[in-house]
Amino acid sequence: MKSTNITWHEAQVTKQDRQSLTKHKSAVLWFTGLSGAGKSTVSVAVEKELHQRGIHTYILDGDNVRHGLNKNLGFSPEDRTENIRRIGEVSKLFVDAGVVTLTAFISPYREDRDMVRELNNEGEFIEVYVKCSVDECEKRDPKGLYKKARAGEIKGFTGIDAPYEAPENPEIVVETDKQSLEESVNQIINYLIEKNYINA
Ligand code: ADX
Repeated sequence: MKSTNITWHEAQVTKQDRQSLTKHKSAVLWFTGLSGAGKSTVSVAVEKELHQRGIHTYILDGDNVRHGLNKNLGFSPEDRTENIRRIGEVSKLFVDAGVVTLTAFISPYREDRDMVRELNNEGEFIEVYVKCSVDECEKRDPKGLYKKARAGEIKGFTGIDAPYEAPENPEIVVETDKQSLEESVNQIINYLIEKNYINA
């Protein structure tokens, strides 16, 4: 914490006020999983479905955020932690704005994801484990990065020579090497309905 002499200002419009305007709760759906597991694909499809149901949404995606806000960060453990910390703070602001926020970052470290969970209020952080074997991700290799990692052209690639720590108690697990995209989307939408984030 480098800032000193700073004061917190309360606004007159609260998160609850915004939620009564939109008629739905806000929370972050935190997608985590290997590169190529399907985080972007599933989050994009879930957002489309939510939007069609009149829900206010926004996606923060790893590759996109690394083009702007986090373009000064690489893939060392420290930079990945800072990447997740910033996105955690940004997603919290979006939740405060009343938006159902979807984040799609590998977020390989359990401790970093738990830090974001702690940042948020109870029930406002929904961890979605996009589960898929390294073998399958490597077969898909949509960006050709596994091939580069195997050839030694990328060092510290998640799943090859950098770790991925799977969630222990995620709210939702979708298995993209076993279920269809439609099944994964339905599973997530049904969770949001059952837990009263959105109406059926
Ligand atoms: S995270 O580990 O900090 O959460 P993030 O989701 O932002 O990662 O970015 C992952 C994306 O960056 C991958 O989908 C891939 O396109 C690209 N990438 C480039 N280098 C690496 C690397 N060493 N490990 C993992 N992903 C990488």
